[in-house]
Amino acid sequence: MNKITVLAGLQWGDEGKGKIVDVLSPQYDVVARYQGGANAGHTLVFNGKKYVLHLIPSGIFTDGVICIIGNGTVIDPEALIEEMELVTSEKIELGGRLFISKDAHLILPYHKIIDAINETGKNKIGTTRKGIGPSYFDKYARRGIKIQDIMHPDLLKEKVKNNLNYLKRIFPESDELNDMSGDDTCNELLIRYEKIKSYITDTQILLNNFIEEGRNILLEGAQGALLDIDFGTYPYITSSHPTSGGACIGTGISPNKITNVVGIFKAYTTRVGEGPFVTELFDDEGKLIAERGSEFGATTGRPRRCGWLDLTALKYTCKINGVTELVMTKSDVLDVFPEISVCTKYIFNEKEIKDFTTDCEILKSVKPSYIKFKGWNTDLSRLSDYDSLPDNYKIYVKFIEEYTGCKISYISTGPSREQIIRKN
Ligand code: GDP
Ligand code: IMO
Ligand code: MG
Repeated sequence: MNKITVLAGLQWGDEGKGKIVDVLSPQYDVVARYQGGANAGHTLVFNGKKYVLHLIPSGIFTDGVICIIGNGTVIDPEALIEEMELVTSEKIELGGRLFISKDAHLILPYHKIIDAINETGKNKIGTTRKGIGPSYFDKYARRGIKIQDIMHPDLLKEKVKNNLNYLKRIFPESDELNDMSGDDTCNELLIRYEKIKSYITDTQILLNNFIEEGRNILLEGAQGALLDIDFGTYPYITSSHPTSGGACIGTGISPNKITNVVGIFKAYTTRVGEGPFVTELFDDEGKLIAERGSEFGATTGRPRRCGWLDLTALKYTCKINGVTELVMTKSDVLDVFPEISVCTKYIFNEKEIKDFTTDCEILKSVKPSYIKFKGWNTDLSRLSDYDSLPDNYKIYVKFIEEYTGCKISYISTGPSREQIIRKN
């Protein structure tokens, strides 16, 4: 039977999804993105070179793998074309390799302006300002503009003008919006469309045909479960469904076709932007994690907040995603720590809480309760098989598996493609 795998981040994003998709891609015929947009920054490192992808699936650097940008994504043509140019500059031919859903919604320049305006108030989320929230906002308000609308220029112009006029009424003080003309916006879009139109198709039909042909498909999540609009720390979330359920909605692959769910987590926790973070560290240990893990956003360059692994949250996100196997990344960052903490429960008003909660008011005031593990004091990045790992490391891994009830199948030990250990 062919494998239809969802790969999803289990924390607040940046778990190393790009690297792991790159590692797993040779096992698949197709890799598809199902939600989010250019807010994602997925890093791949091979042959001593680093690449950051935002919209194009991380299978693009694996020969022959077909890459699909699914209907659940939001697409900024400007960002997409820039990325296509980056990929083609590496001598990768995109014809027949890249397909873009005609049902995906567009991010237009005014969405990025609204994203920035929304971030100036006191209800700041710390977004990437890529226009993600405003584009999904239009989608759900049923005035969004889909890729397929570009094929009907008169209708497109009418929709863009209506949307722009509406925004000008709501944000009269924005010079940037007031200076924007619907006609110019459409004309720019039509020029960009010429560069992407040959890749646009009905990807839900394409993907289902691939399934019938027996091909293996990897569905690449962006962001992470704790940023999910339903299951994350609302309102400090992204405006889509990074969790495995989002993979069906965002591709048109039905739930009964999914064969397994790979959940990725870092051996510690990071978060970019605002919102509660129970295990956040403000001391030298946090600084050391940030430094050793090079914790700066791949899309915005912002420093990532760092803290210990939160197993209370991880157990929850394993359940929400239906994780069938785990991949742990970046434990090599902890190589030099004499002691490693993991949070197994929260303390709230002197009472123990064992289950994660999405209630940010509670999350803001709970205290983490830690279990401490002896460090392994070994350079993991040089090791390539599980048996050669130090005992202290294996004790740590076993604890995580028992606590979450999920087995770890791969351990990533560095940014590069070959720094990977197969466990089971
Ligand atoms: P993504 O958004 O989930 O794809 O993750 P990012 O690419 O935003 O961030 C992960 C960062 O960690 C990137 O700089 C990767 O090159 C790097 N990385 C991935 N896996 C490992 C690992 O196992 N060890 C170390 N040290 N770095 C890693
Ligand atoms: P990858 O795929 C980490 C965060 C932003 C902000 C919140 C909302 O690389 O893991 P948005 O621009 O989506 O409206 O911002 O979500 N965020 C991410 N954090 N990794 C990401 O993607 C993220 N994409 C969005 O920092 O807190
Ligand atoms: Mg990232």
